Order: sequence, then structure tokens, then C-alpha cells
Amino acid sequence: MLERIQEIRSKARECSSIIKAQVSVYVVSHIDADGLTSAGIICKALEREGIEHSIHFVKQLDEVEIESIANLNPELVIFTDLGSGMIDSLNSHGINAVIADHHQPRGELDYHLNPHLYGFNGSYELSGSGMTYILANALGDNKDLADLAIVGAVGDLQHLKKGHLTGLNRYILEEGAQAGVLSFEKDIMLFGKQTRPVFKLLQYASDPYLPGLTGNEDACIGFLHDLGMQFGGDERWRRWIDIEQMDKQKIVSALVQYCLRAGLPPYKIERLIGEVYLLTNEKEGTEMRDASEYSTLLNATARYGHADIGLAVCMGDRGEAYESAKKLLSEHRQNLVNGLMFVKKQGVTQLDNLQYFDAGSSILETIVGIIAGMSTSVIGNRNLPIIAFADAKDGVKVSARGTQDLIRRGLNLSEAMSMTAAEFDGAGGGHDIAAGATIPESAKEEFIMKLDAVIGKQLKK
Ligand code: C5P
Ligand code: C5P
Ligand code: C5P
Ligand code: ZN
Repeated sequence: MLERIQEIRSKARECSSIIKAQVSVYVVSHIDADGLTSAGIICKALEREGIEHSIHFVKQLDEVEIESIANLNPELVIFTDLGSGMIDSLNSHGINAVIADHHQPRGELDYHLNPHLYGFNGSYELSGSGMTYILANALGDNKDLADLAIVGAVGDLQHLKKGHLTGLNRYILEEGAQAGVLSFEKDIMLFGKQTRPVFKLLQYASDPYLPGLTGNEDACIGFLHDLGMQFGGDERWRRWIDIEQMDKQKIVSALVQYCLRAGLPPYKIERLIGEVYLLTNEKEGTEMRDASEYSTLLNATARYGHADIGLAVCMGDRGEAYESAKKLLSEHRQNLVNGLMFVKKQGVTQLDNLQYFDAGSSILETIVGIIAGMSTSVIGNRNLPIIAFADAKDGVKVSARGTQDLIRRGLNLSEAMSMTAAEFDGAGGGHDIAAGATIPESAKEEFIMKLDAVIGKQLKK
């Protein structure tokens, strides 16, 4: 592994020298947690080097976006958390580009940083922010930015594959721990340990879904009350970080017992515990202290057209931008809950090799993928990939999510989606386990049939 890391570092140094030769650069990044943290990392590094820069966020790097970037005639464009799938188009538009991405690559480019090119898996061994962190550390000493790199990886759920970060992510984690900006420990995996009362952790649990507790506030308060800990009256507002280690253990074992009695399979119960990542420079009790809460805060900005707010938080704003981000977060969480309820009510349609639902205009296209991913712990068949449609301005957005099990059996959603979308004049890509595409509205029915056949072929191999 060390040899491959050296190779990446050497390519990063090449990229850094052409960046340093510019007076100003144009940065283009993706509108999610990984894209925002990537942008935060590269902007900090450029700022420290005194290189002028401006930043632009896109939902998807498609032909239309590339055309408008080319029209600006930038000296050099640094693409972070996107670009690897669009190299041919960048070349044909004559765009002078450096790419730091982790999506499945297509095409040839000199200044291309991507874990897939060095034998690492970009869906769980390195994120866009991790790749950008390596580039940033070729530009200067930027090890303190490892915390943002880990937030991006956690935002892309890269830690879930093994229950902890592996590959190059682990390497960055250790560098960050040494630099004093990160720590990690085993803990309960439910969302909101820094900021939410314990009963809310249970109430909003979606992976695993806790039958009888998820969605039922009274039941969750009762569950804690029955443990004989101090959870009555005002004490019920205590957060996970407010309670003693012994009480935490008590809750975890009671939850495990509860899940066993409810008949949850062991692999789901195991997901209750995992490695969690803390940003040691951030204030306790804030979203930014916990990598998972931080990434959700960022998603809540960028996926609703407010990437500027999320970027400001990444750059250190703990005033106005942070306050706005918190407002957006509560709306985002409500949208996720509503989206899940919608899917539960409408149900999914099952074909031979996939299951799907059509959210129409009921779920925003920018979050339908998140909801699709969360929904499989609530409904449907865990043995099939889930596909979701949502109306979009430029056609229909399609999001696809798979499982580790299916990947092992040959599933590659990135290939399936890009291949099938291309047949209908659409475009798609992503990762083996999570991919997306945009297709024309009229193609929906035929698309899903074709995709079913393509995935069937992958699984038969
Ligand atoms: O652009 P992009 O890299 O952000 O998206 C990664 C997506 O893959 C995220 O939406 C993340 O939730 C999803 N993913 C997943 N399951 C995994 C790994 C990633 O759903 N095990
Ligand atoms: O885009 P991707 O599918 O990674 O998004 C998953 C997002 O959903 C993560 O940011 C994660 O923190 C968030 N999430 C949440 N509540 C849960 C589970 C996941 O907000 N119960
Ligand atoms: O939008 P969604 O969360 O479903 O995206 C899942 C993955 O597919 C992300 O990594 C995203 O960057 C990728 N994607 C893509 N082309 C699209 C849509 C999504 O490569 N047209
Ligand atoms: Zn990413």
C-alpha cells in the first residue's frame, strides 16, 4: 500500500506544480458533503499559498455545465469530487484541468488524481475530500485539514462498508489524529449524539430500524425510563454526550436485547455499534464535533442550493453561516422523514432484479438518493438494489443504491446506470454501490425494464 501512496503523492506533486504556476484558478465542486469539504480543503490550501481562486458548485458535471465553464476561458480548472467521468468532454472543450475525484474514471488526462487509478476502491477507500486533501498536502503543509477529509468520507458513507474507515481513508485518519484534529472510538451509530436528546436518537433510528421504537416518541421515552436511569422530567432532554459511560453501555445492551426479541437479524443488530469520528478542535455539543452530524449539516445546505453557506462553515464560520446552516438542517431532517414516510406509504414495485419507486414531485431530486438509501431498512427487499425516480428540471432524476452483498455478486450500479442512460440520451455514473442518472421523462418505463435486464446480467456473471 505504501508504494501506491507514494505514486499518488508523486502525481499530486505534479498537479501542485502546475497549480502553483497560475495566477488564479477556477474551482468546480459537487453539491454534497463530500464536495463541500473538498472545496473547503482546496480553498484553504490555495488561500495559504496566496493563489487567487473562485469557486463554482454544480449538481452534476454534464455537457451544459462543461460548455459554460469553457466559455469562461479559465486558465486552469481544479475539479474536486467530480470530473473523472467526463474527461473526454473536458478535453474536447480544451479545458486545462486538474481533477481530484473518486468516481469511476472514464478517459485519459495528465493531471488526474483518482484512487481507482492506483488500485484503491473509490467507493470506500478514499472520498473526493480525501483525494483533495492529498493534493492540498502537495501544495503545502495542510495536515490540519484531515478533519474535513474525514467528514467528506463519512458523508459518502464510506465507513459503513466495514464498520470503520479503511484504505487511504484510514491513513488520512491517522495523520489527522497525529495532527491533533481527529479522534475515533467505538460507539453507538445512531445519529445525533452531540446535539439531540437520547430518546430522539431512538425515535429517528433508520439503520437499523427499531420496530416499535422508530417513529414513536412515547415508546422511546418509556424505553429509557424502564432502564431505571435518570430519564424522567427534564432529564429526558439529556444528550448522548451528557450521560455516563456506564449508562451508555446499559442502553446499548438493552437495545441489543430489544432487537433480538424483535427478531432483527444479527447483521442488522451489529450495525448499532461502529467506529465514530470526532473533530477534536470543534466545540462539544455542536454538529461539527461529530463527522456524521457535520456531513448532514453540510448536505442540508448544498442540496438546497445554499452551497455558499456550507462552504463558509467548512472555512470556519461559526456565526451567521452556522446559524443559517442549522435552520436548513432542521428542514432537511424533516424532508428526510417525510420522504421516508412517502416511500413507506407508496411502497416499491419489484421486478426480477431490482425494486423501484417513483417519487414524482413529492421528493426533491437532490435528496431522493439519500432517501432511497435509507428506505431499504424500512421497506422492500434487501436482496435487490433500489432505484428511485424524481422529477427534475432537465428530465427525470434516477438514483440507485445497492448493498455489499450485491456488489459481491457482480452488481455495478455505476456501469449499469451510465450504460442504460446513454441508450436514452441520458447520462449517469457514480460508484458500484450508489449511482445516479438523468434521463428524458418519456423514457422512464423503458429505462427501468432495460436496467432490470442489465442488472440481471451483472448478477448472473
Ligand atoms: O457523489 P457521490 O460520491 O456523493 O455519492 C456517494 C453516494 O453513495 C452517497 O449518497 C452515499 O450515501 C452513497 N453510498 C451508499 N452506501 C454506501 C456508500 C455510499 O449509499 N455503502
Ligand atoms: O448522500 P448519502 O446517501 O450519503 O446521504 C446520507 C445522509 O443521510 C448522510 O449525510 C447521513 O448523515 C444522513 N442520515 C440522516 N439520518 C439518518 C441516517 C442518515 O440524516 N438516520
Ligand atoms: O444523486 P445520487 O445521490 O443518487 O448520486 C449517487 C452517485 O451517482 C453520486 O456519486 C453521484 O455523483 C453520481 N451521479 C452521477 N451522474 C448523475 C447522477 C449521479 O455520476 N447523473
Ligand atoms: Zn464524493
